[in-house]
Amino acid sequence: MELANLEARTDALHATWADGAPATYPTLWLRDNCPSAFHPQTDERVLDLLALDAEPVLLNAEAGGETVILHYADGHVSHMPLALLAAHRPGRPASDPAAIPPRLWRANLTPAGVPRFAAPHIMADDAVLREWLQHTAATGLSLVNRLENRIDAGVDVACKIGFLRETNFGMTFEVVSKPDPNNLAYTAVTLPLHTDLPNQEVPPGFQFLHCLANEAEGGGSLFADGFALAEDLRAEDPEAFRLLSEVAIPFRFHDRDADIRTHAPVITVDRTGAVSEIRWNAHIAATFDMPAEILPAYYRAYRKFMAMTRDPAYQLTFKLEAGEMIVFDNRRVLHGRESFDPSTGFRHLHGCYVDRGEFNSRLRLLASS
Ligand code: OGA
Ligand code: ZN
Repeated sequence: MELANLEARTDALHATWADGAPATYPTLWLRDNCPSAFHPQTDERVLDLLALDAEPVLLNAEAGGETVILHYADGHVSHMPLALLAAHRPGRPASDPAAIPPRLWRANLTPAGVPRFAAPHIMADDAVLREWLQHTAATGLSLVNRLENRIDAGVDVACKIGFLRETNFGMTFEVVSKPDPNNLAYTAVTLPLHTDLPNQEVPPGFQFLHCLANEAEGGGSLFADGFALAEDLRAEDPEAFRLLSEVAIPFRFHDRDADIRTHAPVITVDRTGAVSEIRWNAHIAATFDMPAEILPAYYRAYRKFMAMTRDPAYQLTFKLEAGEMIVFDNRRVLHGRESFDPSTGFRHLHGCYVDRGEFNSRLRLLASS
């Protein structure tokens, strides 16, 4: 990006970029971000901000090639890369390869439309790995197929992204009908659409369910885009959206080994107003504790969202086959399953999680390689 104009004032550098966009860089910001403020190897800031005057004085600025040379009254000289000034204009978020806008879906997403990638290709080719992550980020869900028939085959694919998120259910978990279950997932009953572990301070990010066997009658999967549900609620019933995004409710999981609780809203909105997280799990929502005056309106809003999760207009349904793995953003996409009859065949999913931080980190590294 080329500069069209540059003007040094005492308290700020004023630039106009070739596209006509103006940018103002306050002098203290310039000093705080001077390349000399960073360790040459680690690229971490080593400057002590308090060692600077609160209002350093900029004397002049000259553009020369790829840098702008800045002289300050205390004798310091900065060689600011033009690229740094172009990429970090105050008031504009810096570009981020991991900031992939969600593409909301409803029942218009059919099983055939689910982004689909072959495990051997992901494992062998970073370009495919990147493409898979980009699609998974945009849709919130993807399917990996051609997995080997061994317990760790899905985990190996997840580990191409980053390290696993351990929870009270372990580093990985087996979804099978068990004799002494501590979780409804480990029975054969229907699991209505939900997100996993909203009782955690930070619920797990991406979830991986590798299907090793799905031979029982029933046991089909269903999914819904929680961001689409939330946006439709915002449009149709703003008061319900307000309650679900402003009132924190208690969530709790407890068994013999853990008692994990948090308060959080069903819908989390980020600082730009965009929906950034959904926590939905009626099985581990604890006893509501908001003031009695709010309870009737809250229940109305909560039931409304619950009714939307039951509406086929939002649902994607299909049955996982052995060798397939469904991958989804557990803080966006709700998942569930039909009941199954364990007497008719074996059903086994092997699961794990990778948090959003690791997922986004991998996307950024792949973008710069
Ligand atoms: C889970 C879960 C879905 C399934 O383990 O959290 O929702 O298909 N399982 O069994
Ligand atoms: Zn689940």
